[in-house]
Amino acid sequence: MRGRTTGVHALTSIAIRGVSRSFATVDGTLPVLDRVSFEVPERSVVALIGPNGCGKSTLLRIVAGLLRPAAGQVELDGAAVTGPDPRIGFVFQEPRLLPWRDSAGNIGYPLELAGWSRARRDDQVRDLLGLVGLREFAGARPHELSGGMRQRVSIARALAMGPSVLLLDEPFSALDALTRERFNAELLHLWERTETTILLVTHSISEAIFLADRVVVLSPRPGRVVADLPVGIDRASREANVDTLALGQTATLIRRHLAGATDDPTPAELTAELHRRQRERPVRIEDLGEPAWFDPFGPESGT
Ligand SMILES: Nc1ncnc2c1ncn2[C@@H]1O[C@H](COP(=O)(O)OP(=O)(O)OP(=O)(O)O)[C@@H](O)[C@H]1O
Ligand SMILES: [Mg+2]
Repeated sequence: MRGRTTGVHALTSIAIRGVSRSFATVDGTLPVLDRVSFEVPERSVVALIGPNGCGKSTLLRIVAGLLRPAAGQVELDGAAVTGPDPRIGFVFQEPRLLPWRDSAGNIGYPLELAGWSRARRDDQVRDLLGLVGLREFAGARPHELSGGMRQRVSIARALAMGPSVLLLDEPFSALDALTRERFNAELLHLWERTETTILLVTHSISEAIFLADRVVVLSPRPGRVVADLPVGIDRASREANVDTLALGQTATLIRRHLAGATDDPTPAELTAELHRRQRERPVRIEDLGEPAWFDPFGPESGT
């Protein structure tokens, strides 16, 4: 399997060096990334976590060579990225499949563009369909697949050219909790069988810990690196401990950095504030007044 679905390229490392980027808007410029630097060593998995709009997808597009940074650069194996690179497989936030093509046609599309012969393409597509467990759905078009299946097709398509780098932008965010856990485990198995370097955007702390060697935390926009944390739990024991992982020390650390990266008070701060207020003036039941229920069918308040 490995010889066919991967192995086209050697191992690849990613270095993101001082990357900044802003976008022009109607009323000026919107700074989105601020001197972001971190590395993803070859064959490692780094999770990128940060609040909505902090520039994670933008950063992935820059790494993929789909967008240029305003300052800094991305290097693959020490050479600057200047455009799309065949070593990179990209799973976008939404599957982005061609609706008129079946699963096999979508997975084989990059191979067609790359000029692979029909026979070679068919071989590769068959292997990939097996890898993502969709052999019986080779002829199904996207609207005939479930959301999870569509995501599998898009993962298989990203793997088609045997990439040595996988950029995954919240690939499992639309899945239900159990399917998501299964996909996480499948991704790890896939990673074990292939030799890819993975940069994964996720909003799930437990997913980051389950999958990654390191977790990079970004601040709110403009995104800058506020923490780069090793997970430090050996991969073999992660699957068995998936339920307790989220409670672990690493999760606490990530959460603390994420909270530090926003202006929202932490639960501990909120509790302390409540205690402080209660010391100043104890809350009495009669002070609370009538409960302010929101009744969607009742008259509007104030009328
Ligand atoms: N092509 C563009 N033109 C203008 N603004 C853009 C463009 N792409 C992204 N942005 C802006 O850049 C900011 C970062 O967007 P990006 O999609 O990178 O965020 P994100 O961290 O991936 O967020 P989410 O967690 O919601 O996916 C947003 O404010 C967005 O409006
Ligand atoms: Mg995004």
